[in-house]
Amino acid sequence: MQQPPETEPLNPPERTLMGPGPSEVHPRVLRVMSAPLIGHLDAAFIEIMDEVQELLRYTFQTDNKWTIPVSGTGSASMETAFANVVEPGETVLVPTNGYFGGRMESMAERAGGDVVTVDAPWGEPLQPDDVAAAFDEHDPDVFGFVHAETSTGVLQPHVSELTSIAHEHDAYVIADTVTSLGGVELRVDEWDIDVAYSGGQKCLSCPPGASPLTVNDRTMEKVLNRDTEVRSWYLDLSLLEGYWGEERAYHHTAPITNVYALRESLQLVAEEGLEARWERHREMATKLKTGLEDLGFELNPDDEFWLPSLNAVRVPDGVDDTELLDYLKREYDIEVASGLGALEGEILRIGCMGYSARPQNIEFLLAAIEDGLEAQGFDQ
Ligand SMILES: Cc1ncc(COP(=O)(O)O)c(C=O)c1O
Repeated sequence: MQQPPETEPLNPPERTLMGPGPSEVHPRVLRVMSAPLIGHLDAAFIEIMDEVQELLRYTFQTDNKWTIPVSGTGSASMETAFANVVEPGETVLVPTNGYFGGRMESMAERAGGDVVTVDAPWGEPLQPDDVAAAFDEHDPDVFGFVHAETSTGVLQPHVSELTSIAHEHDAYVIADTVTSLGGVELRVDEWDIDVAYSGGQKCLSCPPGASPLTVNDRTMEKVLNRDTEVRSWYLDLSLLEGYWGEERAYHHTAPITNVYALRESLQLVAEEGLEARWERHREMATKLKTGLEDLGFELNPDDEFWLPSLNAVRVPDGVDDTELLDYLKREYDIEVASGLGALEGEILRIGCMGYSARPQNIEFLLAAIEDGLEAQGFDQ
């Protein structure tokens, strides 16, 4: 018989989370995660589901009936969007200006789509003229864009311009709002976004596990009238309708504790007020950015496209980014990330999200970075 491993009770380190996600979880959210489980079809849970949907509509700024938390991390809500909206043989336009545009491509391909791209350099947003030219050239059925690109720290402006180009061509628009929901201005209905997906562990300061998705009626009509079945049973919205729609019938066991957590994190958004929350993120990120500039760092994207929830700053000449990140973790238990893909070795990615976006975290991080630079012989 196999013997039990010699493990100890779980005791993870306490970190200050200032990377690209997860952010720190609000103590109220942690508290509800220790609440007792109830059944996923219990009337009391169904009431919680209704409230989560209402709170999500507020946070997305939408009236979409089809607004749900998908079981799984942000990639699950992302895959739900692409797997349901894209039918085999349809043309899907995706961006190449960051890591998550690349993930859109993989998911669209697996859904059977023919992928075409619209280009912009990593560190820059898409230009409406380039999107219009790509529409004229390829006439895509579906267009995906990333509102807040976590790999580059770029906020996509001109969202309404992009959606109107797509709608002039009768295409459906899928927006990645993983790093913007609850932290950066986002108005799904006003900006005419057809589908938006997100995650919990960024500006909502909720552990990953139940991920927001909203789909408008026009797109749901397409989904419910597909010629082919969605290739994923688990993420098929026509089946999930049974649970999250009127019927409330079993499809799969909801991740109950994650739904509690999301409910409380959205409650915190509602209490703070969405606009006040966007302002807090901007204010805290401004403090961070100013402090970093004083230490010799420079914002990588143009100020115009600055994403307050994810600050991508260029590593000053002569500074070893890996050594600095190791120092922050080793000496101060702070998590910050390095660049990805085309920006590897060139930038640091510093999150300023949700509960992590507060003055004491910013001051602590700036002081620790100053020490880390000194340890490398840089005297500011
Ligand atoms: C912009 C963006 N999209 C999608 C994802 C995928 O989310 P997850 O890692 O929670 O599956 C992430 C995660 O970092 C992200 O930043």
